[in-house]
Amino acid sequence: MQVTLRIKRFNPEKDKEPWWGEYTVDAEPTDRLLDALNLVKWRHDGSLTYRRSCAHGICGSDAMVINGSNRLACKVLLKDLGRQITIEPMRGFRVLKDLLVDMEAFLAKYRSVKPYLITYTPEPEKERLQSPEDRERFDDTTKCILCGACTTSCPSFWANQDYVGPAAIVNAHRFIFDSRDEGAAERMQILNSVDGVWRCRTVFNCVEACPRGINVTRAIGEVKKALMLRKL
Ligand code: SF4
Ligand code: FES
Repeated sequence: MQVTLRIKRFNPEKDKEPWWGEYTVDAEPTDRLLDALNLVKWRHDGSLTYRRSCAHGICGSDAMVINGSNRLACKVLLKDLGRQITIEPMRGFRVLKDLLVDMEAFLAKYRSVKPYLITYTPEPEKERLQSPEDRERFDDTTKCILCGACTTSCPSFWANQDYVGPAAIVNAHRFIFDSRDEGAAERMQILNSVDGVWRCRTVFNCVEACPRGINVTRAIGEVKKALMLRKL
């Protein structure tokens, strides 16, 4: 089958404005969009720039706006996209070149919620035990691959880019509800700030965007509820 990729291009060293490049490639319906992008780069224009690594939905590096929705290029099949496919960089992040966006501010927000196990009590002799039920409490939010699709689909983030964003809250949730962790109060204080969880207006775009099927809005709701119950 032949598909035409309409790709938003921008090279800040050469272009004053973004422009649309159109490329037609021969591909199989069961090819992924990433395969088609690779064909464009390898056979049409080697300067086309985008991130990719694992090609299997694990590394989270190839999130982009595909036919208007945030998706991973390596997880979506051409047969599900039609013959004309529009591809843009994720919204709300600075475009470095073509589909490549600057993730630094996003990762700084991730780091700001202390996404690691914090303990103050003395280490047990063997390990910090956890029941399967307690592990289940945060199972959903362990699946995050930090692709940024949730944060860049969020109107609250588009309106205020200081908002910590869904992805950071998901990763805070993963530790706040971990029965072995003792740093919840620190994280809750950060999330209770003016740019924390209360900027979420439960629009649910993040749930639709998440390639890992994480119920992002539910996780944010659970953090909000925990904050109210703690009366921080
Ligand atoms: S929660 Fe989902 S959409 Fe958001 S960064 Fe993690 S994997 Fe990506
Ligand atoms: S290339 Fe790793 S998730 Fe798509």
